[in-house]
Amino acid sequence: MQTAVVLLAALALAGAQHSPNAELVEQLFGGAGSRHSTNIVVDALLDVPGLVRKYGYPVEVHDVLTLDGYITRAHRIPRGRDAHSAPGPRRVALLVHGLMCSSADFVVLGPGNALAYVLADAGYDVWLANARGNYYSRRHLFLNPNDREGLDFWKFSWDEIGNRDLSALVNHIVRTTGEQKMHYIGYSQGTTAFLVLNALQPQFNERFYSFQALAPAAFNENGQNSIRDIFVHFEFILEAVAFSLGFGEIMGGEGWRETIAGLGLALCNDQSPLQPLCASVIMGGGDLEHFNKTMLPVFLGHNPAGASIRQIIHYSQVQRFRRFARYNHLNPVDNLLSYGSFTPPEYDVSKITVPSYLYYGKNDAQSNYNNVLLLGERLGNTAGIYQIERESFNHFDFIWAADARVQLYDKLVEIMKAVESSQ
Ligand SMILES: *[C@@H]1O[C@H](CO)[C@@H](O)[C@H](O)[C@H]1NC(C)=O
Repeated sequence: MQTAVVLLAALALAGAQHSPNAELVEQLFGGAGSRHSTNIVVDALLDVPGLVRKYGYPVEVHDVLTLDGYITRAHRIPRGRDAHSAPGPRRVALLVHGLMCSSADFVVLGPGNALAYVLADAGYDVWLANARGNYYSRRHLFLNPNDREGLDFWKFSWDEIGNRDLSALVNHIVRTTGEQKMHYIGYSQGTTAFLVLNALQPQFNERFYSFQALAPAAFNENGQNSIRDIFVHFEFILEAVAFSLGFGEIMGGEGWRETIAGLGLALCNDQSPLQPLCASVIMGGGDLEHFNKTMLPVFLGHNPAGASIRQIIHYSQVQRFRRFARYNHLNPVDNLLSYGSFTPPEYDVSKITVPSYLYYGKNDAQSNYNNVLLLGERLGNTAGIYQIERESFNHFDFIWAADARVQLYDKLVEIMKAVESSQ
């Protein structure tokens, strides 16, 4: 399978080689001044640091060790790319990706469009997290993510991502930059992890200027999704079955990224008759008018990026029990050992005192706006709730829409600047 994929990618690359050499080099690596993807194949295959470097931005890679032995990898864009972006202290923006995603969420739209670049150009020191278990963070001091017997590496949900990964990363950023506070921008699961961190360890509240919550996911008391609703009732069987079959990881693993990237390049390119199908599968039948189909192979080269099966199960539990609570173990005795009670305790979001700004899409099936409004009511310090103007804006538009900058990112930067001048 992998050989075939490499072959496909090579073929696609060969297709680009009609141009003379200088032009080819420019096309492949000369992204420094551009505002769009200069080469779809290269951008699908490069990793995040490679992409960022290609477009002329400085980039750093930071490995951060968590208390429970996971080694997570953060990417940093310390400043913008123009000549005026001199090195020097600047405010930190920490960006945290969604479920089965990675730091790539914030760069795949390319310079001039993607949130990480918009923030770097606006003067921020941009940090991009990668949650344990994804493509960049499949490492542990002594547990092996490829071990199909024990699966101990995969026994985590977004509870640990918030409680362990985020706390370690925030401490690392403070140590590295000397900045005592930062802005936090989460997308979907990235917002869930923030709530977990500050509800369980409220001392972290003082580390943040603001919480910018894009398509936040916490309470799930409204909305219906019939297929998911049926599935939710089998959540408790799912873990037992998956783990007994030797699956702790979904949509990731050795060779996964190369495979999906190869398929995306082969089947979803501008010449492929299957491209419209690719687009509607990926956007879940949403509005494609503001979706640039040419970019499909790039998006698929970076997403999905893998997760633990427990992350999905934990969201199912939130829906099934109608409680935003800690992970419910199969065996209640494990709950007792972990939490001191047979029922997992709820996350107390009233303890979150960071000024919180929530952004939702009216057409977002994954983060139903009624649930976002509920979160707004329950948070300790809700400072603003914004509906994205375009009514068809859905869950994936937050990271992939051609108009994400106009609809959202520019406003976000404006609000962050306003928060700074008021504090
Ligand atoms: C779509 O993406 C391609 C590749 O990045 C770019 O050349 C083109 O201008 C984009 N189209 C729109 C409408 O943004």
